[in-house]
Amino acid sequence: MTITAAVDRWNPSPVIITTAAEIIRAGGLVAFPTETVYGLGADALNPEAVSRIFTAKGRPQDNPLILHVHSIAQASNLTVMNGTARKLAETFWPGPLTLVLPAKETVPSATRGGLDTAAVRMPDNPTALALIQASDTAIAAPSANLSGRPSPTDSETVLHDMAGRIDMILDGGSTGVGIESTVIDLTDPERPLMLRPGGMPREIIEAELGLTLEVPDSVSKKRSPGTRYRHYAPSVPVKIWRRGGGLLPENCAYMGMNIPGNADMSRAIIFTSAENYAHGLFAGFRKLEAENVSCIAVEWPEDSSGISEGLRDRISRAAGK
Ligand code: TXA
Ligand code: MG
Repeated sequence: MTITAAVDRWNPSPVIITTAAEIIRAGGLVAFPTETVYGLGADALNPEAVSRIFTAKGRPQDNPLILHVHSIAQASNLTVMNGTARKLAETFWPGPLTLVLPAKETVPSATRGGLDTAAVRMPDNPTALALIQASDTAIAAPSANLSGRPSPTDSETVLHDMAGRIDMILDGGSTGVGIESTVIDLTDPERPLMLRPGGMPREIIEAELGLTLEVPDSVSKKRSPGTRYRHYAPSVPVKIWRRGGGLLPENCAYMGMNIPGNADMSRAIIFTSAENYAHGLFAGFRKLEAENVSCIAVEWPEDSSGISEGLRDRISRAAGK
């Protein structure tokens, strides 16, 4: 049985948080809102609890999890935080930035996917932070979807994928950012790597670092198993449409910021900005597939700054590129 409890995201009821934290402490699974997408949480320091996450999602065991923390001090008990990591955490936490760092022994191998590094982040959501604090542990949380499916940005979608597989869902409404956090590898602070573009734009991180975020080569890619798998895909084909690229492929429902000449407006989802597009991308995939469309055409966002790099990453994966 999966229970859903509605919370005021900004001011969650202590009774509900205590109940959820007791489930985490007992090794159970609780889905909760973050500022990016819903997470599927378990006690990151309990290997049995962590293994339940993999089972519930159908996720490959070698894909490591992000440890969610409520403070920089907590992150530094789990990872070796070099000066660069500390500086970024002080500037951008809580926020959609995940740091990959050398793991301390306290982090079980199951949470790290067997790697010698661990990923940490402090989510910018009062409900998430209250849950982590009340649980008195770090919370390992991938996105709360079945493996390979679009990440959930509301509790109804979590329930759709996870009913009967998890103990509790904290319903804090629709998430803000809509795509996952940016993941950077800081194990070598001289050579920071962009493992996954996301909610925190590259140029903002680079300005703080005074360095360019390199894209991992094939050797360091092995350190980021998540990038190997097809992801975020609806059950119908996704095709990419470029502005100025002519008409849409026939019979495709459309999502994007500009309106192609032959778009069927009765089933199109039009966004007002790249941020709005990111906020609605995964929910749009789920909505259109539930309408049984035969394909989904999505606009390729061209902006070089902001959230567009993260959007392009999710779109190209959903399209199976
Ligand atoms: O916004 C987010 O990050 C959401 C919310 C729930 O916080 N979480 C999320 O988790 O997207 P997940 O498991 O879907 O994606 C985590 C990504 C994966 O690509 C994984 O491979 C990578 O982070 N990752 C985790 N630990 C790592 C490590 N030690 N080294 C390299 N990559 C790591
Ligand atoms: Mg995910």
